[in-house]
Amino acid sequence: MERNVQKASEKIIVALDVSSREQAFDLVKRLSGKVGAYKVGMQLYNSEGPDIVRDIQLLGGRVFIDLKFHDIPNTVAQTSRVMVKRQAFMFTLHAGGGSKMMRAAQQALLDEAAQNHLPTPLSLAVTVLTSISQEDFQQEMGVDKPIAQHVVALAKMAKASGLAGVVCSPQEIAAIRQACGKDFLIVTPGVRPVWAGADDQQRITTPAQAIQAGADYLVIGRPITKAADPAAAAEKIALEMAEA
Ligand code: C5P
Repeated sequence: MERNVQKASEKIIVALDVSSREQAFDLVKRLSGKVGAYKVGMQLYNSEGPDIVRDIQLLGGRVFIDLKFHDIPNTVAQTSRVMVKRQAFMFTLHAGGGSKMMRAAQQALLDEAAQNHLPTPLSLAVTVLTSISQEDFQQEMGVDKPIAQHVVALAKMAKASGLAGVVCSPQEIAAIRQACGKDFLIVTPGVRPVWAGADDQQRITTPAQAIQAGADYLVIGRPITKAADPAAAAEKIALEMAEA
């Protein structure tokens, strides 16, 4: 693989939204060397238990544990310590848990990593879920302002709390990059190449557009995992990203 394409492929995180170890392993083996990490979300984690993380790591993959923690500061801080022990590459917590929760989590993370001489997992704040529309936001959550404005405020709070970055819609990348600077990680799902269907995603961009807007990592599920040849689909996406 050409060097630029190789570099781009490392920015792809594949969402392993499957229910069994066999399906997950099949994808990890097919995609080895073609992507940068594997995302284990609530479906696979709750189907197979936490050992699935170690087993993917044993196959050589980095694991993004996407369980979106949202609880009081002590609970999320103690769970962040577990993320260090599991050697997560990345993990998620909700910015809506507030700055006290995020600060406690980050402090616990750094402390646990230092004590055990382990790498510090990248902590990512989930801002507003991309499935929430402006209308839901106003009527159900009672917030009377544009979602994008709220997302940027949450991203700034996550940065001030010491977190490594955020998960957001590709359409919010540019505003967050401007508000939070170049060292703040932006990880984005909702990415669809023109040759793939949109599925249930609403606010999408292409891989090239997400890279041009300044994303650090793209989370991509079905366009790769449901493709007849997942490795070829990942390569095609990496090529598009390298050319962006
Ligand atoms: O298959 P697809 O590419 O749509 O998968 C996107 C992945 O990103 C899923 O695992 C989904 O849970 C996750 N995600 C998302 N939108 C968010 C946060 C996470 O689609 N706002």
